Amino acid sequence: MSNPFKNIQGEIAWKAPSNIALVKYWGKYGNQLPRNASISFTLNNAFTETSVKYVAKTDGSKNIDLKFLFEGQENPKFAEKIQKFLESIIPHFPFLPHFSLEINSSNSFPHSTGIASSASSMAALALCLTDIENTLDGGLFPSAFFEKASMIARLGSGSACRSVFPYLSVWGKHANIAFSSNEHGIPFHDTVHPVFKTFKDAILIVSSDEKSVSSRAGHALMDGNPFSESRYQQAETHLTDLVGYLKDGNLDKFGEIVENEALTLHALMMCSTPSYMLMLPNTLKIIDLIKNYRSEKGVPLYFTLDAGPNVHLLYPEGNAAEVETFIRESLLLYCEQGKVIYDQVGKGPGKIK
Ligand code: PMV
Repeated sequence: MSNPFKNIQGEIAWKAPSNIALVKYWGKYGNQLPRNASISFTLNNAFTETSVKYVAKTDGSKNIDLKFLFEGQENPKFAEKIQKFLESIIPHFPFLPHFSLEINSSNSFPHSTGIASSASSMAALALCLTDIENTLDGGLFPSAFFEKASMIARLGSGSACRSVFPYLSVWGKHANIAFSSNEHGIPFHDTVHPVFKTFKDAILIVSSDEKSVSSRAGHALMDGNPFSESRYQQAETHLTDLVGYLKDGNLDKFGEIVENEALTLHALMMCSTPSYMLMLPNTLKIIDLIKNYRSEKGVPLYFTLDAGPNVHLLYPEGNAAEVETFIRESLLLYCEQGKVIYDQVGKGPGKIK
């Protein structure tokens, strides 16, 4: 059969940011579906830029024809992952086997930081692919466009589905959140106090070593965790409460939930079978110093953690000067080579080309 896209070619590029969860997604089922709903801040400075060149094939082959470059270099490990991912989403994008694809991807943050790039990279790629489909097919409404991009990003890396929306995003069905879905993220900023839309996130790099247990393995261990059911209920309650505090601008209560979520995530790892620990001594030291600083100075500075040892410091823009002095003077000595990435809540992804 001749190629229905004969002679068509083009290039599309998107930039997508990373995100940091406030109520964590931990535990999944089926094809990357979450056991509980989560909410995150969309970041700004930690992002991936991805371009996809597509040229209609002239042979009748049905395989995915991919050339993948990461930061200008061939990267066989990433290429294999992307190849498999593209094969798995052909049912959602039937045009894919009809084109030769060249994907170029690069991150704004160095990969020696231990900052996971799967959220930003999968979101950027999903946006490019959804946009190519749009170009070929005539176009989705903007809301349907981002919903589809979010769904595709989710298939690549669960939490990536929250990276396609500005400011904050909710992913996972929640009884009190209209339009929430397990299939894709939704934007969530209309009912959020302005203080949170410019919130800062300083990421303290305690270690950039590769994690001893991957997130994939960690999610799987939730199935045998004796506390999993009560955890999923706790996440639901935390999200209900947090939505109220986000609306009111209640910083103390925001911090209470966010810090509890971070420590719960790591407690769940410690009581899995087999158990494991991703926090390091300096993670605990930094947490301790943050708590003391907050109680002594009354500054609204809170911490959260990803599935790793690095600490995200969350604080209002208005407190940036004093918090950043505290970071420099008291916290950087607990970081790997004094590494910190200063980020903040951002406006979401953008089309480059
Ligand atoms: O998206 P994954 O499979 O890498 O899992 C992410 C899990 C956490 O970062 C720990 C929590 C979250 O909601 O982002």
